[in-house]
Amino acid sequence: RGDDVQAWFDAVIEADQKVEPRDWMPDDYRKGLVRQIAQHAHSEIIGMQPEGNWISRAPTLKRKAILLAKVQDEAGHGLYLYAAAETLGVTREELVDALIEGRQKYSSIFNYPTLTWADVGAIGWLVDGAAIVNQVPLCRCSYGPYARAMIRICKEESFHQRQGYEILHTLSHGTPEQRAMAQDSLDRWWYPSLAMFGPPDTQSTHSAKSMGWKIKRHSNDELRQRFVDMCVPQAKVLGLTIPDPDLRWNDERGHHDFTEPDYAELMRVVAGDGPCNAERMAHRRRAHDEGAWVREAAAEYAEKAASRKKA
Ligand code: ACO
Repeated sequence: RGDDVQAWFDAVIEADQKVEPRDWMPDDYRKGLVRQIAQHAHSEIIGMQPEGNWISRAPTLKRKAILLAKVQDEAGHGLYLYAAAETLGVTREELVDALIEGRQKYSSIFNYPTLTWADVGAIGWLVDGAAIVNQVPLCRCSYGPYARAMIRICKEESFHQRQGYEILHTLSHGTPEQRAMAQDSLDRWWYPSLAMFGPPDTQSTHSAKSMGWKIKRHSNDELRQRFVDMCVPQAKVLGLTIPDPDLRWNDERGHHDFTEPDYAELMRVVAGDGPCNAERMAHRRRAHDEGAWVREAAAEYAEKAASRKKA
């Protein structure tokens, strides 16, 4: 029977069909998905902090309303993703505890500070732009609930990206000080955004397996290249300079050549030693503790509602 189910699973993957929660799946496939989906969910939740930092200081009421809605969208993404992970047999509590106790990761990018309003623009353009490049292929991931969650998330991320780009466009066509602020944010966010795609393919531990299972559809380096190629014309329209003197079109490859991010820095940040890791985790732990009464009240309410139904 073991061979039968494995053969069935292999055929589903081969035929580009979806694996659903009640289907048989190899343990490693399940574990790999929980790891990636949980990290992804944690990233959405921690990712609320750098931008949340600017809600009370947005330059106009309209910008404030937009940013508020955007940060709320990120909370929603976290919740869809925790729900997708739950279909694999883990609970949201277990995953949240794993984040809080530092046993699971979240994206490196959210350990960098948002120093100016232009950083809100750069996050939308570059960070959400990188997220889209990475996540659109995940809409075709072999695990049904993850793939379906990604469809809505990607639609919202495209709106986020445009709002960030529009902020930078306004600044880069504004006063010389505003332009300088936009350039400075691009200078600081460029390489951390390239690093979001993960280590180079030669050092990526999970890519081969994930690609075999059609969880990942493209390698880290392929997506990084796609992102660079996408950003170059967009930077031109902004009139800003990507901080890479070696960035140039390579006719033979049909892609831009570019300087790789500092992967040693990526590994340091992932290991906890980035500019804001301690602050991000402290904030999340505090928010979790302060929300304990809400969780208790909700559980109590659910229990009462269930016993009323029985009666
Ligand atoms: N930040 C933190 N950790 C990272 C990053 C990063 N930018 N890139 C790689 N890693 C970690 C991996 O999680 C893995 O560690 P682990 O074994 O403890 O899980 C290790 O570095 C080696 O990397 P890979 O083998 O290449 O890992 P993987 O195949 O999972 O690829 C990637 C990494 C591309 C991030 C993949 O997990 C993915 O596509 N995830 C879904 C998208 C996502 O999580 N985006 C979050 C940011 S987007 C946003 O929230 C706006």
